[in-house]
Amino acid sequence: MPGSAKEGSINPFHGKDFITVKGVQREAVEYLFTRAKMMEMIRNAKAVLEVLQGHAIPIIFYQPSTRTFSSFFAATRFLGAVALPIHDMASYSSASKGENLPDSVRSLERTTDASAIVLRHPDNNSSEVAAQYAEIPIINAGSGTAEHPTQALLDLFTIWKRLGTIDNLHVAFVGDMKFGRTVKSLAALLAQLGKSNTFTFVSAEELALPEDYKATLDPNTFSETEDLSTIIRDADVVYVTRTQAEWFRQHGMMEQLEQLRAKLKVGKEEVALMKGDAIVMHPLPRQEELRYGIDTDPKAAYWEQMANGLYIRMALLEAILVENPEDHPDKLGLKQQHINRSE
Ligand code: NCD
Repeated sequence: MPGSAKEGSINPFHGKDFITVKGVQREAVEYLFTRAKMMEMIRNAKAVLEVLQGHAIPIIFYQPSTRTFSSFFAATRFLGAVALPIHDMASYSSASKGENLPDSVRSLERTTDASAIVLRHPDNNSSEVAAQYAEIPIINAGSGTAEHPTQALLDLFTIWKRLGTIDNLHVAFVGDMKFGRTVKSLAALLAQLGKSNTFTFVSAEELALPEDYKATLDPNTFSETEDLSTIIRDADVVYVTRTQAEWFRQHGMMEQLEQLRAKLKVGKEEVALMKGDAIVMHPLPRQEELRYGIDTDPKAAYWEQMANGLYIRMALLEAILVENPEDHPDKLGLKQQHINRSE
């Protein structure tokens, strides 16, 4: 494959922030997937590594989370580092006394002798701001309505494991394109790394993908509709998202919330229309848009997304903090994986 990583190639994440999917190369993703596969094997063996022994990693969240928070916490611990989890930064840290993000980040860096900080924050540019002030890498675990880059990596890893490729896919994104950050990061990553991928953004008009995001995509590669039934038969991936109610007040949209909330639903009837090997994904949490009746359907890939999130976050933490895992006494090298079935 042109542009594929050579065996033994250097780790492109080492010592760097990870705050956006923009600019992430295919080689970088291949490196990470290789390591994530290794992490999966290690977890299947219930092994705990020492590769990050001596490292402290604050995990600071200013917004709610179940999966992202717990998987970063577990990833840190399974690699032998000390996790410093603060789940409710907004109420229980000095942020409630008016401390700004640069001061909080610089303080945590010093009080904990941290090696990296995992940050979730409601401001779109929060990770960039933190990275400007911190001397250690910042990992974006969700920034406002803009980006969720580690979710995009685990989503892409799930697609690759299920479908054997990240090319020539038709991905239908369903739900809230306006406020949802997972959609924006995954669409950007698929457009940037994959070949000949196409997208349909399925949403109510009020929740359409913002113009500035559309402007970053090739207009020939995507379309928009309010009617999922018109395209569901053709989709390889149906990526469902919830209506992001927490942003409605700030945008003066509270009156529309109830009407928009349950407009698009994916349940047994919709899944029955999908191609045999197509998959249903959802970053979760879900509301009424994803019906419980399809949880055990082989097309449902959302339970795997969570486990893949653990492996990807383990791989990313390792990649940022350990230049070459082959040099570590655990000798955790693994033959490079390629992201196409044919290779
Ligand atoms: C997503 C998020 O926080 O953006 N959740 C997650 O990290 N799995 C999606 C959402 O909240 O709807």
